[in-house]
Amino acid sequence: MASLALDLLPEHYVEFSEQELDARIARAKAALGSRLVILGHHYQRDEVVKFADFRGDSLKLSQLAASRREAEFIVFCGVHFMAESADILSADHQVVILPDLNAGCSMADMANLEQVEVCWEELAGCTDARIVPITYINSTAAIKAFVGRNGGAVCTSSNARKVMEWALARGDKGLFLPDEHLGRNTAYRMGIPLEEMAVWDPQEERGGLREEEIRQARIFLWKGHCSVHQRFLPEHVARVRAKYPGVRVVVHPECKWEVCQLADEVGSTEYILKRVTEAPPGSQWAVGTEIHMIRRLAQEHADRLVVTLDDCVCLCSTMYRISPQHLCWTLESLVAGQVVNRVSVDPETKRWARVALDRMLEIT
Ligand code: 13P
Ligand code: SF4
Repeated sequence: MASLALDLLPEHYVEFSEQELDARIARAKAALGSRLVILGHHYQRDEVVKFADFRGDSLKLSQLAASRREAEFIVFCGVHFMAESADILSADHQVVILPDLNAGCSMADMANLEQVEVCWEELAGCTDARIVPITYINSTAAIKAFVGRNGGAVCTSSNARKVMEWALARGDKGLFLPDEHLGRNTAYRMGIPLEEMAVWDPQEERGGLREEEIRQARIFLWKGHCSVHQRFLPEHVARVRAKYPGVRVVVHPECKWEVCQLADEVGSTEYILKRVTEAPPGSQWAVGTEIHMIRRLAQEHADRLVVTLDDCVCLCSTMYRISPQHLCWTLESLVAGQVVNRVSVDPETKRWARVALDRMLEIT
């Protein structure tokens, strides 16, 4: 389990103006120099991500965390599971900090270790087939460790297909945690029909499945979802196409299967970024992902149309918790020799979670 000693933002930080905060962050960053690296996920707000030394999706940021050995402090502007992964992959001398420990992920919270262990035992009780577990990186370190101990691997939205192919080459069936939609979209694109997928609902007895369904399924999909991406609906695709004839619809694979089927392209955060960035001027894009990333793409590429697939403002409220005030406080504390909001995974969990993460990095 990660340490969860929650340090609270001192009150006076909320009184600083935007300019003061910018100046203070820049000063603290300069004072820490090469002792510090700031990693920023694409869903972070502009006021924060502008200070990131590296921006990326979860795959890119975990690769960076594994390779930037010279920095003593890794300040992760993202959510808790990302900072945990950075702690697991970084060297022992490195300290990982999440500026606000309340920046969690509702999807990661949808699978806890106890539920997954029950599922594993019940599946084993119904079938002799070899099941290989896969966990999306959006999961707790404890789930990653479970997967590592049981011969499986982590995946991200960038490499889910490669990891699922790897898993099915090693075993007869896969258990995909904790995002039902990423699992379904990935398996379907590999040619696995929907009838060979079974949703495991941890709230139901035996996952809500009959023994026969368990024997027949090739992929078990954990009933979890992202509250941001699940809000995009098929009618949003129809509406945006009617409003902007010729628009290309690109969505993140955490969106529902029905939405992904209607989209022109489905890809990870980094994929979406690349497609829009490399698109010709005048092209039109409707994007199904987190709103900060879409707004930034629109601002940085004013010569093309970049709109959200739906105007409902699909904001990840936990990503949003990382504020400039928290970043400023974290960095100034480090300058003063004090570590606040450290994310530290216990050694046993770390060992097995690392096995699952290393497998992913090898497969990728
Ligand atoms: P990426 O793997 O595309 O960075 O996505 C992470 C995430 O949390 C998406 O909701
Ligand atoms: Fe979690 Fe969804 Fe936010 Fe990603 S966008 S961090 S999956 S809640």
